[in-house]
Amino acid sequence: MLRRIIYIASFTILWSMGSCTRNNDDTVIPDVVADAPDRPAHFPEAYYKHNPNTYSKAGYELGRKLFFDPLLSIDNTISCGSCHKQQYAFADIPVAFSSGVNGLKGRRHTPAIFNMAWNKSFMWDGGVNHLEVMPLAPLTNPVEMGESIGHIVYKLNRHKDYPSLFKKVFSRDSIDDQQMFWALAQYMSNLVSATSKYDDVYRGKTSFTQEELEGYMLFKNNCATCHAEPLLTDYSFRNNGIDTVYTADSGRYRISQLSQDWGAFKVPTLRNIAVTAPYMHDGRFATLQQVLQHYATGVKSSATVSPLLIKNGTPGLQLNTEEQQKIIAFLQTLTDYKFLSKEGLSE
Ligand code: HEC
Ligand code: HEC
Repeated sequence: MLRRIIYIASFTILWSMGSCTRNNDDTVIPDVVADAPDRPAHFPEAYYKHNPNTYSKAGYELGRKLFFDPLLSIDNTISCGSCHKQQYAFADIPVAFSSGVNGLKGRRHTPAIFNMAWNKSFMWDGGVNHLEVMPLAPLTNPVEMGESIGHIVYKLNRHKDYPSLFKKVFSRDSIDDQQMFWALAQYMSNLVSATSKYDDVYRGKTSFTQEELEGYMLFKNNCATCHAEPLLTDYSFRNNGIDTVYTADSGRYRISQLSQDWGAFKVPTLRNIAVTAPYMHDGRFATLQQVLQHYATGVKSSATVSPLLIKNGTPGLQLNTEEQQKIIAFLQTLTDYKFLSKEGLSE
């Protein structure tokens, strides 16, 4: 809890550091900008605004360079991109827990990173409330990158390339932490995934197969209250019944201290879900089949389990094997192959 308060406090400090003059010579690249009016037409308005962090192509590219640079870790071995890889929708390779500096591991599964401009909070428990302060957690976490912000800023200022790259974007004489967080936010907010088959159906460019369509109907009836269209999450915190009672990870309770939040986690998006195994905050399910079995018959009753997962007084959505398979067929239409291989998103 204390650490979360520090994140929020640091954000306030960053925020109050005021605005600066920026070089706006670089024009915006329309197809990667998440802000309205360039958002995908079927998406709601983005939550993150590039204000005062004005977007520029050079700012985006600087953010991308930082994201893939191991210089930001204590021993120069781990970058953000070590755990967040484009071919897995910026989640990690299929491991439950990623390795940080010195091979150390955390206790939560690395989530995918895209459509971050629509996120209202970050981390499985929503403990970080702003995209511009988000990198503070992995940069300083001893099991992730283990560095201090002061030392990163020192390294950046002494680097052969960064001083001129930052100056081009922010027109300041030296690099500070706010500029680093802004550049990373320009990059992350423009990782937009909106070109899956599902999106093409939405745009009327193609149609579902019979199996996918039946899966979609089942999905709407059983899953879409939480995994709400079109972003496939409603950004709420819920207990989806994977545990009975008090577990090692209390989830949202850690942040809110409200008893009804025990075991509740942020509803994750299901976009690109076929490439981000294993599943849940602790990566406990290896396959989508296991996830569907959980929802069908494995939901555990507890004081905080969502009532949406209780049917006719029994925990579980009572989906038979054929119905589970149809839902999986639908989930596979959420893979955005263009996004996974799009040039210009990785180093
Ligand atoms: C060692 C692996 C690792 C590294 C390195 C790492 N992350 Fe992460 N990232 C994670 C994990 C694990 C979580 C989930 C943590 C939690 O919920 O407690 C996460 C969560 C996030 C989220 C929140 C996503 C969401 O949907 O809420 C963002 C954004 C993010 N990381 C960006 C970054 C950035 C930027 C960097 C580099 C400064 C970085 N990460 C470095 C593993 C890593
Ligand atoms: C009551 C809200 C709710 C409903 C209804 C719901 N889910 Fe979820 N879902 C969640 C939450 C919360 C999580 C994250 C839980 C965790 O990590 O501990 C989750 C996680 C998942 C994951 C893993 C995501 C990841 O990135 O690891 C998949 C896949 C999934 N749900 C699919 C479905 C399907 C399919 C249905 C319908 C059969 C469904 N969900 C119904 C709330 C819900």
